[in-house]
Amino acid sequence: RPSPIIAPSLLAADFGRLREEVAAVERAGAHWLHLDVMDGHFVPNISFGALVLNALRPHTRLAFDVHLMIAPADPYLADFAKAGADQITVHAEAGPHLHRSLQTIRALGLKAGVAINPATPAEAVRHVLDLIDIINVMTVNPGFGGQSFLAGQLPKIAELRRMVTEAGRDIRIETDGGIDAASAPRALEAGADVLIAGSAIFGKPDYAAAIAALGTGD
Ligand code: DX5
Ligand code: ZN
Repeated sequence: RPSPIIAPSLLAADFGRLREEVAAVERAGAHWLHLDVMDGHFVPNISFGALVLNALRPHTRLAFDVHLMIAPADPYLADFAKAGADQITVHAEAGPHLHRSLQTIRALGLKAGVAINPATPAEAVRHVLDLIDIINVMTVNPGFGGQSFLAGQLPKIAELRRMVTEAGRDIRIETDGGIDAASAPRALEAGADVLIAGSAIFGKPDYAAAIAALGTGD
């Protein structure tokens, strides 16, 4: 199995020192930076928006993997593109026109992703496979960092990996929520190839060691 893409979630960083925190995970070997945007409406918490991406963009070369937990998403897609997003993921549950949201992200020149909540079946992405580069399988209910991994989502990761392989598409499968050294190997075994982790990286004193522990499963 090739080594996974590691995407630290900024949600667990020290918000008073965001620029240093991003530099620290970049030095520690992160591949992408995961940015959790929450609106207090689609999810019961508010985080940050495009202004924060824009402020960080000049200070890192990490790809910005933007996870929009907002409804509606479409009116803000261009703002996030302009602020420096490389890839934007919208939730399948966030609106009636997922296909249109993905077309809009692609038209902005970015990679497009779909996130699905724990109660949403894999089938929700089947008819947009040709429009996406990323599937985010939520392994917690979205809204907060530091929750426990929902192992019941593992068969869904496996089902999605089969669906992607059968379709012959080059699509990354992210596992998001509760990823630590214990859950990471299980998600990878099921077929995920991107590990998103907030507290398991920013909550540890040594970010490089924390990232290595996820990638290798030690
Ligand atoms: C939850 C977010 C996750 C979260 C992960 O709504 O989408 O990206 O930051 O945090 P941990 O890794 O602490 O579960
Ligand atoms: Zn996320």
